[in-house]
Amino acid sequence: DQFNNTNIFMRVSTTPYMHHDFCNFQPLSPEEALEEHLLLDSLAWPDTPSLPDPISLEQTSDPAHSTFTILPRRGGREWHVGDQLEVMINVSDFQGRPKKSGGDVIVARLHNATLGAGVAGQVVDHLNGSYSAVFSLLWEGSAKVMLIHPSEAVTVLRRLSIEQPDRIYFKSLFRSGSVSETTTCNVCLKPTQQPLCNYTDLHTGNPWFCYKPEKLSCDTRINHNYGGFKQNIKTSETKLFQSDVNMKVYIQPSGSASVTVFPNKTGKMKNNNVNSGPAGYYYQGGWRALRGTTVHQFNTVSDINQCLKGKMVHLYGDSTIRQFFEHFTTALPDLKEFNLHSLRQVGPFMALDYANNILVTYRCHGPPIRFGSVPISELRYIANELDSVIGGSNTVVVLGIWSHFSTFPIEVYIRRLQSIRKAVVRLLDRAPDTLVIIRTANLKALTLYETLTNSDWFSLQCDKVLRAIFKGLNVHLLDAWEMGLAHHLPHSLHPQPPIIKNMIDVILSHICPQRDS
Ligand SMILES: *[C@@H]1O[C@H](CO)[C@@H](O)[C@H](O)[C@H]1NC(C)=O
Ligand SMILES: *[C@@H]1O[C@H](CO)[C@@H](O)[C@H](O)[C@H]1NC(C)=O
Ligand SMILES: *[C@@H]1O[C@H](CO)[C@@H](O)[C@H](O)[C@H]1NC(C)=O
Ligand SMILES: *[C@@H]1O[C@H](CO)[C@@H](O)[C@H](O)[C@H]1NC(C)=O
Ligand SMILES: *[C@@H]1O[C@H](CO)[C@@H](O)[C@H](O)[C@H]1NC(C)=O
Repeated sequence: DQFNNTNIFMRVSTTPYMHHDFCNFQPLSPEEALEEHLLLDSLAWPDTPSLPDPISLEQTSDPAHSTFTILPRRGGREWHVGDQLEVMINVSDFQGRPKKSGGDVIVARLHNATLGAGVAGQVVDHLNGSYSAVFSLLWEGSAKVMLIHPSEAVTVLRRLSIEQPDRIYFKSLFRSGSVSETTTCNVCLKPTQQPLCNYTDLHTGNPWFCYKPEKLSCDTRINHNYGGFKQNIKTSETKLFQSDVNMKVYIQPSGSASVTVFPNKTGKMKNNNVNSGPAGYYYQGGWRALRGTTVHQFNTVSDINQCLKGKMVHLYGDSTIRQFFEHFTTALPDLKEFNLHSLRQVGPFMALDYANNILVTYRCHGPPIRFGSVPISELRYIANELDSVIGGSNTVVVLGIWSHFSTFPIEVYIRRLQSIRKAVVRLLDRAPDTLVIIRTANLKALTLYETLTNSDWFSLQCDKVLRAIFKGLNVHLLDAWEMGLAHHLPHSLHPQPPIIKNMIDVILSHICPQRDS
């Protein structure tokens, strides 16, 4: 189903779960605690090599010495639409010796530029230095395999998660009369002599703390700001994160990467894989879902207006959700943004098409949002916002929250989503006709800074958690992970306009489903 992720790896980690003793976790019910336990289990990444000091690359995974091969079809017959293509990936080190262990972060896609087509592959780690990527053949094309991180880089990222969950920090300004002070805030705040202000949200239980200002009281907090990033890895470790060397580098085929696919005689694809395989694929640049609602294209202002007429669309989340607000206000000339004097990055935003009675709003999620100058009165948790939505058949909620969580223990994210899920359940209980769409994480461009604060390896875990937590609810998943991975445009935190247009088509197709022809 739509909640399966495209990456599969085996549960083998023997590392016991580490406690991050200066992070604050809200208490859980027994059911939630069990769910968290199972989630942590399912996230276990294969053990990765321990690193010598200083690091030399010699024995680390090298995309240039690694290859992939298209395996022949069993029985040696030709390929047909609807078949599964398997690619074997062998990873070797910088000295050309085959790796004997797994844990490399690898993604794969099949694409055909002429057809504007792309589909994500499912990667399986065999834990012996080789990996398989499996593709659904929907048209003929060529396979692309990318090493995102060598397994040795995962060793570093994993250590950062445990030892430096406060490497991104936050600040708040406190002010009363002419006195102002700034202190550091976080969910993971190292104990010092300085007392703490406890801003834990009483309704959701989401924890948040600042050091208490010296002169001022805790209730004089004015705003919330991104504070900065403490980079604290060994210089030699940075070798493991080099673009063009071992980070986001394509692995070359040992033979041909292309496969000739003969059409199925009826031209219809056999859908024998309803519960696994890709969520969809691109064809002629348009996203086609393989499960659930058929995606239609909404190419004109009048198509979109007709669909949105009489609707209230509430967007909640990080900047990847803000992109949807920006798309709607750009695409629809009569949807006028009301000037709330908000900061461009932060919001909140509201846009109205009076004649068509369309309302679109955006609000960013609460801490640990990495935006600057969020006024405390605008610092809201999505769960609390959802509790203020009446809901009903004219209400659409789109939410997405992931990219600001990757430096924290994953428990912080799990608990945040559990609290949002409770609010979604309450909303759907009181107004079952409300349409709720949840956007997943996506791959992004990686520099060293981006990697240490928001690597795809962290996003992959957020993505798995999100799919698991909302599974079984009457909500729709917007599969940003696959929609970014399958597309020919480069990975980007903020996917480029052609991808956003496709995401909007998915959203509108859920709002206005059309009978399949
Ligand atoms: C991958 O490794 C296996 C096992 O050693 C070998 O049989 C196969 O030929 C290798 N494939 C490539 C493309 O190197
Ligand atoms: C690794 O394991 C897979 C699955 O068991 C096998 O097909 C492959 O040949 C093995 N590769 C190597 C290099 O041993
Ligand atoms: C893309 O598809 C077209 C039409 O089926 C085909 O002629 C072409 O060879 C394909 N390109 C690749 C790279 O496979
Ligand atoms: C912070 O406040 C919450 C809610 O009142 C409480 O449950 C929690 O124990 C407090 N945490 C600390 C460290 O004081
Ligand atoms: C081709 O279509 C026929 C009829 O729908 C179906 O029975 C067959 O399984 C399909 N083959 C593939 C490879 O999809």
